[in-house]
Amino acid sequence: GKGAAMVTAVAYRLAEQSRQIAQILSEFRLTTEQLLEVTRERSTQDSATVKMLPTFVQSTPDGSENGDFLALDLGGTNFRVLMVKIRSGKRRTVEMHNKIYAIPLEVMQGTGEELFDHIVQCISDFLDYMGMKNARLPLGFTFSFPCRQTKLDAGILVTWTKGFKATDCEGEDVVGLLREAIKRREEFELDVVAIVNDTVGTMMTCAYEEPTCEVGLIAGTGSNACYMEEMKNIEMIEGDEGQMCVNMEWGAFGDNGCLDDIRTEYDRSVDDFSLNPGKQRYEKMCSGMYLGEIVRNILIDMTKKGFLFRGQISETLKTRGIFETKFLSQIESDRLALLQVRSILQHLGLDSSCDDSIIVKEVCGAVSRRAAQLCGAGMAAVVDKIRENRGLDHLDITVGVDGTLYKLHPHFSRIMHQTVNELAPQCNVNFLLSEDGSGKGAALITAVGCRLRQELNS
Ligand code: GLC
Repeated sequence: GKGAAMVTAVAYRLAEQSRQIAQILSEFRLTTEQLLEVTRERSTQDSATVKMLPTFVQSTPDGSENGDFLALDLGGTNFRVLMVKIRSGKRRTVEMHNKIYAIPLEVMQGTGEELFDHIVQCISDFLDYMGMKNARLPLGFTFSFPCRQTKLDAGILVTWTKGFKATDCEGEDVVGLLREAIKRREEFELDVVAIVNDTVGTMMTCAYEEPTCEVGLIAGTGSNACYMEEMKNIEMIEGDEGQMCVNMEWGAFGDNGCLDDIRTEYDRSVDDFSLNPGKQRYEKMCSGMYLGEIVRNILIDMTKKGFLFRGQISETLKTRGIFETKFLSQIESDRLALLQVRSILQHLGLDSSCDDSIIVKEVCGAVSRRAAQLCGAGMAAVVDKIRENRGLDHLDITVGVDGTLYKLHPHFSRIMHQTVNELAPQCNVNFLLSEDGSGKGAALITAVGCRLRQELNS
């Protein structure tokens, strides 16, 4: 009768819905062949969109580093000022003190002068806190953006990435901007010795404990890697002897369109509404700052189609940036019951049914799995290139890693490791988590920089 017909209609509608949901999520499934293609493109297109910036870091630490250093860490989840005391000798030790400072959005996106004045204001507060205003300490500046370096203590900002957009900085030497801001304040002096990318700091920190570490990886707010390259392969720098660390800036991979086949409409919309449309396309598919945005765009689309939240797009769902990495990590945690997923969504202001929460969890899973696989495909290209550089059939190597996505997400690291193993079977890659990589690494590089300077002067 009529009842049976209605049941059939509902069943049909539900089946059709799940088919369409599965269809949307399937766009995020990459086959091994597609991932291999990413790895291949990565190795051939280095010159095209990946900048491969020389860092003037020519060796990993050897334990002889010594002294007291100030370090700044700008460009990740937090801005920090650190005091790092490194002691060489039989019992090597590193002691650190640090303070986290907020950088208000209007400072991140205001004028360059305001940004650097704010940074120096934070340093001033920190030096008071440590009671070290009169020391003229050597400083290492971890500045996690693409910089064209001509020496260890000079770096021209190529372009802002992630959430930064302060005016009058691009094309300028960032060390110069910092020194000028210190002068403007007329309160204390510092000796800026090195500008350091966070990937490089991370690699150095791990290499301090583990000499086979010759690669650095950040899977956090942004995504990037560095590795020790043979000098003879670095065209921009004279000299063929030895090695130098290269900051790949791999987040810009795909900016020439080579990832277009695997980008979805959701990726395009995240890119369109970002601070830097058309740029950092790979980063926008695999780093913490953007994954939540991809999820939000999918949820909006599914809601529009009537598959979620009773078809109602709430104000919350319209708000950019609501899903931080933290939330994805919580939602995807295996220990979490669906009821808890619902309460997390509730907390965000999203009123979900039980079915909704299942779908949301699936969406998060699809987006973060693809991110981990893409990141793994990039890493596979790097380690395989190092292996080929050295003419080896087999390479054992350690990668120093840091970043909120890698550390906090319940599945990202495992899927990334698996992907590297699958795509670079001739390499045995050991991932080493770096504790406080950016700060410690900047201090280690600063220590080497100070030593080299003394050697030159004597
Ligand atoms: C962005 C920056 C890069 C940094 C990475 C991780 O990709 O351009 O320099 O290493 O984020 O913080």
